[in-house]
Amino acid sequence: MVDKYAVIGNPIAHSKSPFIHAEFARQTRHDMAYGRILGNPDDFAGDVHRFFAAGGQGMNVTLPFKERAWELVDERNPRAERVGAVNTLTLLPDGRLGGDNTDGIGLVRDLSENHGFDFGGKRVLLLGAGGASRGVLPSLLETGLDTLVIANRTAAKALDLAAATAADRVSGCGLEGLSGRRFDLIINATSAGLDGGVPAIHRDCLALGGWTYDMFYGDTPTPFLRWGRERGAAWALDGLGMLVEQAAESFFLWRGVRPSTPPVIAQLRGDQAYSQVLR
Ligand code: ATR
Repeated sequence: MVDKYAVIGNPIAHSKSPFIHAEFARQTRHDMAYGRILGNPDDFAGDVHRFFAAGGQGMNVTLPFKERAWELVDERNPRAERVGAVNTLTLLPDGRLGGDNTDGIGLVRDLSENHGFDFGGKRVLLLGAGGASRGVLPSLLETGLDTLVIANRTAAKALDLAAATAADRVSGCGLEGLSGRRFDLIINATSAGLDGGVPAIHRDCLALGGWTYDMFYGDTPTPFLRWGRERGAAWALDGLGMLVEQAAESFFLWRGVRPSTPPVIAQLRGDQAYSQVLR
């Protein structure tokens, strides 16, 4: 029987994960099937258990189920344990379910390996203090960055998230607390872009030669991607590369092989060259 995998989320129709994993499978000559499941918000656990009972080997989990997946699994990788969210489920040899989170690795790899961003000594601003920010924090802190500021519309949430890292290099503030500060990399992890907005930060927050990264992506340039471009970012990137990189890490966890990501990113990018803007 062909090994079965799937992504579960709600909504799920536009997920690019089936395409990405089909490309990885083709590239590595792994015989596997990867489908999509529209998760039932009232019966997420049932959906997951039914998939594995029917022979599933692994699952990716996307919005809005990552926290529920964290609660559901029998065993968590330490990085998933810390972030409180799981995006990769794996059937363990003893039949239990393992959970991991590959989002942070995806973000850091896209920046450093695909685009050559050197975190060493850099001042990084992370916008937002919800699940998306929490999910990438441990990986960001493993880079050689100098300082990480978490800024959020609701300041208290940023302060709490920063305090939870117990790291001297990390601090939290409200968006207004950013005035007069400069950053080499600004990452948008807020959901503001989903309704067309950009967090209200001052244009001078981006240092000369600084980069911007939107953890989200769309078929047209995201508002934050445009924000970076308009403010002269050296590179203004969206989250498509992160999506492919987190998928590659999931594939590696399941199959023990790391697929090559650049050709898959290029295919998805197609003629949407807007997404990587060199000034
Ligand atoms: P997720 O789990 O996807 O991160 P979340 O936990 O609801 O979603 O968090 C959404 C984040 O986007 C929060 O940091 C939120 O700020 P608040 O904590 O102040 O609500 C932020 N956000 C959403 N819309 C925003 C907007 N228009 N401007 C600035 N920040 C916004």
